[in-house]
Amino acid sequence: MSTAALVLAAGRGERLGQPIPKAFVSLAGTPLLVRSLEAMAAVPEVDRVVPVVPPNDLRRWSAMAVVGVGSQQLREKLAGAISGGTRRQDSVAAGLASLGRSVEWVAVHDAARCLVTPEDASRVIRRAQQCGAAILAEPVRDTIKRVRDGRILETPPREECWVAQTPQVFRLELLREALAKAEAEGVLGTDDAQLVERLGVEVQVVPSRSPNWKITLPEDLVNAEHWLASGQTPLGGELDS
Ligand code: CTP
Ligand code: MG
Repeated sequence: MSTAALVLAAGRGERLGQPIPKAFVSLAGTPLLVRSLEAMAAVPEVDRVVPVVPPNDLRRWSAMAVVGVGSQQLREKLAGAISGGTRRQDSVAAGLASLGRSVEWVAVHDAARCLVTPEDASRVIRRAQQCGAAILAEPVRDTIKRVRDGRILETPPREECWVAQTPQVFRLELLREALAKAEAEGVLGTDDAQLVERLGVEVQVVPSRSPNWKITLPEDLVNAEHWLASGQTPLGGELDS
């Protein structure tokens, strides 16, 4: 039973506003992409990690890869980089297309969620392997309103509202089917689970135990840097069973 992790890094990072793509930007000296790849490579259930990078930045990635960034564990599991697409969903499709027949499970992870712990990633992978599909998520703290044209349509019960994160983990064939259906119907999802949900398949939610923020705005980078400086080590720690 082979498991691959696609680490999506093909976005431009418009909102971060740096001259290089977001995934290549450093957090406390290490690029977000390398941090995410390291976290996924440290998961015992993950056999292979696949970076999906912007088409014009394959050379930037090679330059980074040849200078030997990364642990031995990462080098052992690292596959060649894949060119992503214009939209996140295209990048997922490109990553899936690169996976061979031996791969049975796929964990899709945003490089921008570079603080994910191997423990949380391992928990969501194991849940998916029991149930078929699972995502990491956290319960919302605020009351959520569904709003259209400035008017509230609905107030969903807060205890039923969660913020979707990554990794999102699926049986490979299930995610392939979900993407094909979405493409055929012109549907663009903001995460992968919603495409699987559209097949009528149940997706389990695993609460993340450690901060799993997505670096989106410049202040997210500053906050993450402060958090790391406060002595937190998201790449370390014991794996629970
Ligand atoms: N992503 C991708 N391919 C795309 C768009 C996004 O692989 N065509 C990846 C990003 O690299 C990121 C993750 O999907 O790791 C989540 O996307 P987001 O946080 O929106 O990153 P960007 O699209 O890079 O940022 P922005 O929307 O501000 O441009
Ligand atoms: Mg984006």
